Amino acid sequence: MCGIIGITGRVDAVDGIVAGLKRLEYRGYDSAGVVTGDGRALRIVKRAGKLENLTGALAEQADGALSASTGIGHTRWATHGAPNDRNAHPHTDPDGRVAVVHNGIVENYQQLKSSLGDVRFASETDSEVVAHLVARHLDEADAPDLLTAVRRVVADLKGAYSLCLVSRDEPDTIVVAKHEAPLIVAHADGVGYCASDVAALIAHTRDVSALLDGQIARITPDGVEVVDVDGAPAKPHDYHVSWDLEAAEKQGYEHFMLKEIFEQPQAVHDTLLDRHRPDAGGGSPRLRLDELRIDERDLARIDKVFILACGTSLHAGMVGKLAIEHWAGIPVDVEVASEFRYRDPIVDKNTLVIAISQSGETVDTIAAASHARDQRSPVVSLVNVVGSTLAREADGVLYTHAGPEVAVASTKAFTTQIVGCLLLGLYLAQVRGRMYATETADILSRLQQIPDALEEVLGLDAEITALAERYTDVDYTMFIGRHSGLPIAMEGALKLKEISYLHAEAFPAGEMKHGPIALIEPGSLVIALAPAGHVFAKMVSNIQEVRARGASVLAIGTADSAAELKDHADHVLALPEPPHELAGPVLSVVPLQLFSYRVATLRGEDVDQPRNLAKTVTVE
Ligand code: AGP
Repeated sequence: MCGIIGITGRVDAVDGIVAGLKRLEYRGYDSAGVVTGDGRALRIVKRAGKLENLTGALAEQADGALSASTGIGHTRWATHGAPNDRNAHPHTDPDGRVAVVHNGIVENYQQLKSSLGDVRFASETDSEVVAHLVARHLDEADAPDLLTAVRRVVADLKGAYSLCLVSRDEPDTIVVAKHEAPLIVAHADGVGYCASDVAALIAHTRDVSALLDGQIARITPDGVEVVDVDGAPAKPHDYHVSWDLEAAEKQGYEHFMLKEIFEQPQAVHDTLLDRHRPDAGGGSPRLRLDELRIDERDLARIDKVFILACGTSLHAGMVGKLAIEHWAGIPVDVEVASEFRYRDPIVDKNTLVIAISQSGETVDTIAAASHARDQRSPVVSLVNVVGSTLAREADGVLYTHAGPEVAVASTKAFTTQIVGCLLLGLYLAQVRGRMYATETADILSRLQQIPDALEEVLGLDAEITALAERYTDVDYTMFIGRHSGLPIAMEGALKLKEISYLHAEAFPAGEMKHGPIALIEPGSLVIALAPAGHVFAKMVSNIQEVRARGASVLAIGTADSAAELKDHADHVLALPEPPHELAGPVLSVVPLQLFSYRVATLRGEDVDQPRNLAKTVTVE
């Protein structure tokens, strides 16, 4: 949460900073600000609200008032202090000598503030204290430079942070520090950069370095110098970004969310690409997950799996549980990552942890995975963003290759995560000898049909839009499902509430009679996941129960279940039969994504930037 960018060495840094903030706005949009310096003074402009408020304020500045070759910017997701102008970043020390932007939480900020004595703070944030502390260190007898002063300050900080600072007295220098919140640095064509995410830098370079925890960097037009807290040279994680600027644009779609929904056939195709082949020496083809890096003999010993994730990724993990238990025969627990390390989970070297995250930067998931690693459990991350913290810190990684996902509401990340889970389930079955090679090959070849089936589902958009028009103002929507329909019911409810702000809940269809059915009254909408399969008859009974109590029912069926559903539901969407029952969720979530999107746009909501949310959640 919160987006940071810094540029030094450009003729006019502010234009580049604003363009970068535009790409980082998904990380928070409570306020935005920028600071530049010319060696005489630091000049700050910051405004509450979305980035357009900042750009409006910048346009009102006198010509050239902020022009400088060095500057830093910030887009905020508020934690400490209301989202107003005063709490917007950057923050300075009382003399305006040092300015800081911050992503994360300085947990000991109260204690640090007290250590400064009787000092007035201009904001209610935890971040401002960093500027005060750095300025104090700059005054020390040995006259440290900005890098040294920042090193001394971070030695005292507790919590998660990526920090970016400029000083009035060092005009061509940006200093950054990273601990448990992402920070990328780069240098290209005489310009130094830093940002929370490569999306902000992709217009300038695709060769970047991710700082590791505890690293501090000085960025100048001449290059990037990385050190540890003691000042010794340190090596960040260098990598090349495989996607380009075009992939990060809307490409004619009204919203990123819609673009990303329609990118799902390609994204799933890319997730499945080149997974089944002989090894370099020939031999029979096998399922190969090259980046997994965990010895097959160790995987064969696994007797328990934990899947840890948050939000949409957690729902993908629920499908993963079904796949792993079905194919590999290993018991699986799926757990909200933020709960895991605060109880006493029983994990050891024979427990495999699968941490699922689009961004690879969700702090709850990173912390849970690291807790499991501390107990010697091997950790595999199922991640979209290449080079992200979770991808780097896990023992092995399976990339989903969905390409950049910008909309806060996750769509293509979800479907590719499910496919990733299916691959992991098959792989575990393979290494444990639970499946004949021909069986694995057959399932993998059937999964290749998913992209075409997805195209067919996307063809239902007009029908779904008509349904959305009908139910735009429904007060309450209940999603129900069984087996692989349950995670999709949960994901459907999450999508609807997060972008349309309508009240929506999901329940296992069989649980309805134990309480939730009391909520049903005439006018309620129930969306029922009812594909053909072993729980279809039970779903039909549950649909009848809610309909008997006055609910309207929209049933998401498949070719083989649709005809029967027509006798029980008000509306039936007939999806193609999935190539495997466990692949069904990849298809059945798409109408729910489109339904939520259409309802939200009809209600006039800001789909790509829903209120109170941010794409990457880097605070606990
Ligand atoms: C869903 O639309 C949200 N974006 C959210 O639930 C998200 O899935 C969650 O915050 C986890 O993010 P991650 O996959 O990047 O870890």
